[in-house]
Amino acid sequence: MKTVPPEGYVLVTGTSRGLGRALVDALCGAGVPVVSVSRQPGNASGRAEGPFQARTFSADITDTPTVDRELDRLFGEWGVPAMVVHNAGVLRYRGVQWEEPEESVRETLDVNITAPVLWVARIVPEMVKAGLGGQVFLSSTVGRDNRTGWGSYALSKWAIEALSANLSRELPEPLYSFTLNPGPVETEMRRKAYPGKDPANPRPPAVVARPMALFFRTLIERGGRKYNGSKLNLDAIEGGKV
Ligand SMILES: NC(=O)c1ccc[n+]([C@@H]2O[C@H](COP(=O)([O-])OP(=O)(O)OC[C@H]3O[C@@H](n4cnc5c(N)ncnc54)[C@H](OP(=O)(O)O)[C@@H]3O)[C@@H](O)[C@H]2O)c1
Repeated sequence: MKTVPPEGYVLVTGTSRGLGRALVDALCGAGVPVVSVSRQPGNASGRAEGPFQARTFSADITDTPTVDRELDRLFGEWGVPAMVVHNAGVLRYRGVQWEEPEESVRETLDVNITAPVLWVARIVPEMVKAGLGGQVFLSSTVGRDNRTGWGSYALSKWAIEALSANLSRELPEPLYSFTLNPGPVETEMRRKAYPGKDPANPRPPAVVARPMALFFRTLIERGGRKYNGSKLNLDAIEGGKV
């Protein structure tokens, strides 16, 4: 029977594959309790290597009634998370903006920005009451530099940067919010982005997830307010520049 982890737990969205799945494994490996959110719970990972197993709830992050129900249950049992990692994302289209199909535009913005905004509205008031908590948003180079050919995916990442920046000015201490660009990661999304030759040398998700998990663990132990409003890059964290 799991009990409430005293140092708090991390809630990660989009854990059926790719970076999210690897992050759950890495957090477990680093002894950090995790709750993973996947719309395919059979695929969600979470090796029980630490004292607390990863626990999973099954939800499409855009399905507000299910998310609310599951979060109510979770908060009732484990309290509010020490950190939420908004990792779930979709890349549906590469090409010029005006040729992106409506369905792709709507789904991309729904998953990549509307859902995180609604999750923030649901979770931050609980964090304020508890007097702790961080919001971490997975971003991308295309959400920070102007690049052509990324359609609404790029718009959604610019919007996530704006969400985090605005939140960081509104959150009371010691709460915090920052964005994190993981750099190129060898995932389904990356293969879709570069179906031919990849101009970079993407690293396997497990390799990227390890330093992320260790960084997150230090934030849970020491607080993360010093990163409030930051636009972080994983390579800078790994290089000790953060
Ligand atoms: N890979 C890169 O090089 C790279 C670079 C910069 C930033 N990022 C960011 O890193 C994050 C992870 O990307 P990734 O490369 O690991 O992508 P991925 O391999 O495509 O995995 C995306 C994950 O998000 C989940 N997801 C999508 N829509 C969802 C929804 N409505 N509800 C619940 N889960 C949903 C997927 O679950 P299903 O299996 O159910 O679809 C999957 O587990 C994304 O935010 C991405 O923008 C990635």
